[in-house]
Amino acid sequence: MWSSRTDLLAHSLIGYAVERLKLPKDTTWGPGNAAGVVDAVADTVTPEGIGGHAALRLFREVLLPACRPMDDPMNLAYVPTAPSNAATMFDLVLSASSIFAGAWEGGAGAIAAENRALRWLADLAGLPPSAGGVFVSGGSAANLSALVTARYVHRERTGSDARGTIAATREVHASVRAAARVMDCNVLPVDIDAQGRMTGEALRAALEAHEAAHLGDGSDVFAVVATGGTTNSGTIDELGSVADVCDERGLWLHVDGAYGLAALASPTAQASFAGIERVDSFGVDPHKWLFAPYDSAALVYRDPVPAAAAHAQHGDYLDAVDRGEWNPADYAYHLSRRARGLPLWFSLATYGTDAYAAAIDTTIATARAFADAVAERPGFTLLLDPHLSVVLFTVDGWTREQYLEWSKRRATEGRWLVIPTSWQGLPCLRICVVHPSTDPAALLEILDDLASYRG
Ligand SMILES: Cc1ncc(COP(=O)(O)O)c(C=O)c1O
Repeated sequence: MWSSRTDLLAHSLIGYAVERLKLPKDTTWGPGNAAGVVDAVADTVTPEGIGGHAALRLFREVLLPACRPMDDPMNLAYVPTAPSNAATMFDLVLSASSIFAGAWEGGAGAIAAENRALRWLADLAGLPPSAGGVFVSGGSAANLSALVTARYVHRERTGSDARGTIAATREVHASVRAAARVMDCNVLPVDIDAQGRMTGEALRAALEAHEAAHLGDGSDVFAVVATGGTTNSGTIDELGSVADVCDERGLWLHVDGAYGLAALASPTAQASFAGIERVDSFGVDPHKWLFAPYDSAALVYRDPVPAAAAHAQHGDYLDAVDRGEWNPADYAYHLSRRARGLPLWFSLATYGTDAYAAAIDTTIATARAFADAVAERPGFTLLLDPHLSVVLFTVDGWTREQYLEWSKRRATEGRWLVIPTSWQGLPCLRICVVHPSTDPAALLEILDDLASYRG
């Protein structure tokens, strides 16, 4: 298993990976091919093994085609992904390098490079030199870890051991509600404005109503989660006025920017995030719109010290190690970790930050052009001026069932993946563009298709 006789297999695997970088144009991969996969793997784990070449063949021919290619430029659902070639291939290098990136003692070289990428993000957000954090597995893990830190800080300051409450709008990502369940704390709903944003005014009103109804002093609220690009609509909360309220009341402000904060990399989009420089923590996922493969989410704290107090794990064998200057394990809920920030770092180092700005601007322009086309076409309604690269629109008169039927049919055919959602209670279609290769003309074909669709 560790001998050089595995070289041939290693070359086959690398060869496959290089080939996969070029997504076949007419791919019909996806759940439509999933019928036989359980049977296909039934006899693969045996005392003798089936051999790497056979297993790779099975993966290429049967298993992979039953997975949706999330990097297909016409995959416009959820928040897709668009990893750069450099980032993807470096992920393989990372796997081959066996780095324990939990502590400086074992992973200093990798951690230094991860921290360089985190510094780039912290600088884009305007956080001070003392800011720092860690790459975790995803936006969900980033939200949970930031909120655990926020509650720790609140408890230290107030001496309260109350369950605590997080203030957020209903547009906040589901992972924040999931974090509240894990932490056994409450969520205080904050109203959204007509554009779907949290404003300072609405936050203040929610906090005052909460104080009046529950506690008298509202001291159980320990954090506000604002979103820098909601998943559903790409809306950016009014970070400046929200930060004002958090400052007034000494509340921790976390910005979930898993999808949208990537746009900080674009000098033109940056202004939409005014106030981000005042947060206590933020998260942004390189595996969404920063062109890195799964799984990678950057979690950055203005002051990492309390994060380490909240999260660091201790034990005789752990505390015996000279842990050096920066231990990523201390800043989130984990211990062993892959240096999952390295593909982002390598990609930034390879192409430069200007290429990132250009790629993000391209996707925003593609979404904008699509939104303009929707607004101009009779029979369609643009529901919201896009803040980032999500576009919400209706085909006038369509019901949710019609959207679902059309969406499923086109997904099964492998033409494109566009999934319905709702906006302010109205069923609608949603596209999210993160791939710079998404062809604006191909997006217009979606509108042509919808206009002529008869079910
Ligand atoms: C705004 C936002 N937050 C959090 C998440 C969860 O991220 P992950 O799936 O990486 O855990 C998502 C996922 O789409 C998101 O869009």
